[in-house]
Amino acid sequence: MLEIIILAAGEGKRMKSARPKVLQTVGGRPMLERLVDTAKALAPDRIHVVIGAGGDQVQEALAGLDLVWAEQRERLGTGHAAMQALPAVDPEARVLVLPGDMPLVRPSTLARLLKSDADLTVLSFIAEDPTGYGRILRDGDAVRGIREEKDASDEERAIDEVNSGVLAAGAADLAAWLERVGADNAQGEYYLTDCVELAADDGRDVDAVIAGDAGELMGANDRVQMAVLERVFQQRARRSLMEQGAALADPDSVQVRGEIDVGRDVFIDVNVVLQGRIRLGDGVQLGAGSVLVDCELAAGTVVHPYCVLEGAKTTGACSVGPFARLRPGTELAEDVKIGNFVETKNARMSQGAKASHLAYVGDAEVGPAANLGAGTITCNYDGVNKHRTVIGAGAFIGSNSSLVAPVEIGAEATVGAGSVISGEAPAGQLTLSRARQRTIPDWKRPRKKNRD
Ligand code: UD1
Ligand code: MG
Repeated sequence: MLEIIILAAGEGKRMKSARPKVLQTVGGRPMLERLVDTAKALAPDRIHVVIGAGGDQVQEALAGLDLVWAEQRERLGTGHAAMQALPAVDPEARVLVLPGDMPLVRPSTLARLLKSDADLTVLSFIAEDPTGYGRILRDGDAVRGIREEKDASDEERAIDEVNSGVLAAGAADLAAWLERVGADNAQGEYYLTDCVELAADDGRDVDAVIAGDAGELMGANDRVQMAVLERVFQQRARRSLMEQGAALADPDSVQVRGEIDVGRDVFIDVNVVLQGRIRLGDGVQLGAGSVLVDCELAAGTVVHPYCVLEGAKTTGACSVGPFARLRPGTELAEDVKIGNFVETKNARMSQGAKASHLAYVGDAEVGPAANLGAGTITCNYDGVNKHRTVIGAGAFIGSNSSLVAPVEIGAEATVGAGSVISGEAPAGQLTLSRARQRTIPDWKRPRKKNRD
């Protein structure tokens, strides 16, 4: 039986933020959410989360996940925090304690720690710069204790094997050791790490497993460490895109802030940002400088440079941009063309429909092969309500036309350029609403006096 305790009650003072530390994001998601995902991968019987500072915000952000919450009213240290969760843990269970500020630890690394059959096991790593971490004290191979940075002698500070903050032990043992932990140290806190020395003194089997790398095990205490973690995450995410079959013109310039699935032969040009939940079908091309948020693009979709797509979906190979903006509720079918300076929202464009230049298509249903000329605007909003525009198959909307919704343009209808259409434009006919052109004979342009 395995129960996991995540310590997430710290204020994260060093972060200098109004948000609780564990809600700071890495790769676009709160650290704690990522850690809970990882914890779940170990299939524990229960996951406990100890909250304190900003606990309401934390609970709200993680609502809906199957978690047991424990409250730590005063921040008296990691040992004290772990104690708050223990009453709800089965005494027979093995407990894995995770610091909440370690979002990138891999399930496989934790699994390696859990393989140890010692009475108490900590996960350690070799740090290039051990500053700030608890140091692992050994007698030969045997682990003797953990010394926090602030309590360490110069000699101890030179040790580069450091504590990741992850610890595994039997629940009853852990509770007993924590009862004995005091707060007589530089920070006046009850250190979880003191259990190690107590267990070693009791002659119990204590183990420190060196696994994983600094990239996945480093703690995020301040913005500088957050930036390092972000880089580690980005490197992992880009590698995963490439492993799935995407070619990245310059991997270092692509930013991933969510969960991305890509097909084969996807091409991602420089400076692309991928956010939220994104799926890219085989052969999708993303042009330089494009930003995609929560999108699903069908195989063969081409997004030209500098487009912003949010909540958009394509159902066939189609072409978007350059400089297009697709907003939520946009759905484009095969062979649709959205050209430069076109904005769409809540708009369905059927097969072969086109808006090639300078248009706003909102709350609209555009039939197959309809053509929206340059400057076509759906006037969907009357200041209070949104109304729909329905454009039939093969309709042709002349340039610079305003379609005042609710309005319907029939199949194969033609709208003359420059029209304001507020009534039905019947199928197959030419409808236009513009002043007839006239020429004023003998009109004289005013001339300034005193001019030759
Ligand atoms: C801790 C370890 C240190 C280790 C490092 C790894 C202790 C005493 N020190 O130090 O050995 O090298 O992590 O990153 O354990 N928390 C609470 N309540 C508290 C205090 C902390 O819930 O009263 C939570 C924090 O939210 C955080 C986690 O425990 O998620 C670790 O606390 P933090 O202050 O980051 O400890 P470090 O100084 O990093
Ligand atoms: Mg920390």
